[in-house]
Amino acid sequence: MSHTPPQIRFAENDLSELKSAAGRIAVFVGPDGTLDPAGRKLNGAMRKGLERLIGSAAWDKLNEGDVSVIAHPAGLEAEAVLAVKLARRPSQDKARKAGASLAKVRGPDALTICAGTQKAPEQIALGLALRSYRFDAHKTGADPQPDGDVTVLCRDPEAVAAASAPLAAMTEGVFFTRDLVNEPANVLTTEDFAARLAAMQELGLDVEILDDAAIEAAGMRLLLSVGQGSESPSRVVAMRWNGGGDEAPLALIGKGVVFDSGGISIKPAAGMEEMTGDMGGAGTVAGVMRSLALRKAKANVVGIVGLVENMPSGSATRPGDIVRSKKGDTVEIINTDAEGRLVLADLLTWAQEQFAPRAMVDLATLTGAVVVALGSENTGVFANDDGFADAFLKAAQAEGEGAWRMPMGAGYDKKLKSDKADMKNVGGREGGAITAAQFLRRFAGEDTPWMHLDIAGTAWTSGETALAPKGATGWGVLALNRLIDDL
Ligand code: BES
Ligand code: ZN
Ligand code: MN
Repeated sequence: MSHTPPQIRFAENDLSELKSAAGRIAVFVGPDGTLDPAGRKLNGAMRKGLERLIGSAAWDKLNEGDVSVIAHPAGLEAEAVLAVKLARRPSQDKARKAGASLAKVRGPDALTICAGTQKAPEQIALGLALRSYRFDAHKTGADPQPDGDVTVLCRDPEAVAAASAPLAAMTEGVFFTRDLVNEPANVLTTEDFAARLAAMQELGLDVEILDDAAIEAAGMRLLLSVGQGSESPSRVVAMRWNGGGDEAPLALIGKGVVFDSGGISIKPAAGMEEMTGDMGGAGTVAGVMRSLALRKAKANVVGIVGLVENMPSGSATRPGDIVRSKKGDTVEIINTDAEGRLVLADLLTWAQEQFAPRAMVDLATLTGAVVVALGSENTGVFANDDGFADAFLKAAQAEGEGAWRMPMGAGYDKKLKSDKADMKNVGGREGGAITAAQFLRRFAGEDTPWMHLDIAGTAWTSGETALAPKGATGWGVLALNRLIDDL
């Protein structure tokens, strides 16, 4: 497991607590060099050490959100003061990024944040917590200690603590997603994944696990065709959070390919290890469900994941095989590496049959083509309902998670025509992310609002992002939580 998020406590602004604080102290200085009353008191206690910094040329060069370190400040017990350039009323984005900058330089000791009259200390705390993530479960000798506790000294700490509680639940959800995505496939097998989800029953989620026989009985043969070459059995898991009375649930559906070798249409060796993250859609669904339970959200949501491993073997699906979907249509499997859509297709049918959802969102690391189109800045958003897509784009924008609507249409759908079956599972190189979405739309139908999020470019990063170190990002956990609150 990874490190848990830091413990964060909120208390009244108090100069004596700052003077005696061990570890490190963070303080905010406006871009124009202004200190608020708490900052002025701290400056006095440290014999104008902050003023000297603010007057320096080096300080002028910092951007908003950057940190300057004053080591061994006079007049304080602390070993360092971390001065953060930040306006008193920063945007939410800048507040989170300032918190993230602190996470990078704070070190393992206790941290006392002198938030003074900062408008939203809970957003600074969220950025700090999110950027504190590390995945060193498999590093021999890594320090198992969590980072030192964080104390935020601020105005009206009870109100700030109340505003922070749901954000802490989101952080737990994001960490859960990142752990799942970062975990290698020999550890996170289909059964291990299902067991980690079953453990969330303790949080008040209803968790139902379908084994191979139950999946077969439900008719999800497309899904089974993906996992049949693996030694690991396929699993479908449904997690229900019922905090919203008797309204129809929102269904979140995740692609959970614990490893995607490509199957018989095997992938090239270079970069194949990245396909341990091909369960990113399922990981995000799991993280959202965890945060909903932890913050006791007033909503009905069902999270459904298809857990399979796509491997080549004597029992694997061959290119050219024709398989009947749960919906009834037959699919000619031209390329066994276009497996995610097969898993999701049957889940989209099953979700409608089992839960009669008011709307469905599927998440998947579905295509390399979406990475070519949008890079790692934006998730590809496909939908059969403009209002639903707009609601999500708004939520994603508010959370600073990149999302971009992609086109759909009959012209793309035509490319799925098969000579032998009702459709084939690939539509050619051109517009590959869109033909994949068209395939899913045939199973989602037009009666239920549906959205497909292709997170192949956003689920993990090769370099760090503002709020995540290199590796899994947890993209979407915040935006989906917001969408659920907005609906
Ligand atoms: N899991 C991959 C897509 C992927 C690629 C995710 C890169 C993350 C990073 C998916 O199963 C896949 O192999 N898609 C193929 C589809 C093709 C065979 C039509 C692809 O994108 O090449
Ligand atoms: Zn895949
Ligand atoms: Mn594949």
